[in-house]
Amino acid sequence: MTDQPPASYSGPQRVLSGVQSSGALHLGNYLGALVKFTRLQHEIDTFIFVADLHAITVWQDPAQLANQTREIAAAYLAAGLDPKIATIFPQSAVPAHAELGWIFQCVARLGWLDRMTQFKEKSGKHKERSSVGLYTYPVLQAADILLYKGTQVPVGDDQKQHLELTRDIAAKFNHDFDAPGFFPLPEGLTEGPGARIMSLRDGSAKMSKSDPSDNSRINLTDDADAIAQKIRKAKTDPEPLPETLEDLKLRPEADNLVGIYGALAGLTKADVLAEFGGKGFGTFKPALADLAVAKLSPVSDAMRRYMADPAEIDAILAAGADKARAVAAPTLDEVKNIVGFWR
Ligand code: TYM
Repeated sequence: MTDQPPASYSGPQRVLSGVQSSGALHLGNYLGALVKFTRLQHEIDTFIFVADLHAITVWQDPAQLANQTREIAAAYLAAGLDPKIATIFPQSAVPAHAELGWIFQCVARLGWLDRMTQFKEKSGKHKERSSVGLYTYPVLQAADILLYKGTQVPVGDDQKQHLELTRDIAAKFNHDFDAPGFFPLPEGLTEGPGARIMSLRDGSAKMSKSDPSDNSRINLTDDADAIAQKIRKAKTDPEPLPETLEDLKLRPEADNLVGIYGALAGLTKADVLAEFGGKGFGTFKPALADLAVAKLSPVSDAMRRYMADPAEIDAILAAGADKARAVAAPTLDEVKNIVGFWR
């Protein structure tokens, strides 16, 4: 009997994720991504990078970009990522991301990218003036994940479509090049209480760094006064909090604040309603503000401490990049072989 390659992926499990270095982080990034990274590092080999190649799909000031990258790394560390356990690195320090990204551009189909809703949102009315990179961005994201044969990808709910594309690219590569089981079909870890944090000004819009209103989001760098004030000003309705989840669903702003409380406290929305159902926002908002300050202040304090020592961050990023390059190299070598490049 000949040795047949496995039809499905049978390699080790690996967590892979990243955040763009395109501006300050907010509560949505923290609850949707950073908190999950920190938990998973104790369970599975974890690679977390700063997506600076993705950041330049829209204009970034070259004088600021490296510092923005350090700031994301500082947030990772402040949230509890431990560089002795997890591999933390800047995407641009590992050229194999871009190389595999190109090969995947030749695997992905135009029709697949045409369906990506995030491009439509980000390019807005000026599609033809967007960078080509903004359009092909999800293909690079697939390369980020598959370069390390990532099997689990902790991200917020807004990244679901990009993960489906990653799976489509992996499956098509494995199929077209007759390499069954070469790439895993990664699973998105998009569930959880913080998966979709909404704007504090509009319960139907995602909390986002591109929202022109700073009151729409809690930034990880906000101080206690700013956090409390933004929660006080958060849009709500005049009714007291409902008693049931069904009623909560009909009130997007209340739903969002209850969700934030639950995610910060490690409670379900039902638990939060058991405590606050029937009470007015005059009671709930100060409790939420106290909780948010108690949970986020230590993170922003730690971020400031790390940012005060950029040399330490740089040493962590450089060591992470060495490790990432060493893991990426054999995969890219195999891919080049599979594709048939001269070597
Ligand atoms: P980015 O930088 O926009 O966001 C970073 C992470 O934060 C999550 N997130 C949210 N979660 C809950 N509620 C919100 N309002 C909210 N806003 C953002 C995002 O889902 C994400 O997990 N394309 C990615 C970066 C990336 C990546 C990758 C991620 C590049 N390559 C490979 C995973 C694997 C992005 O733009 O995330």
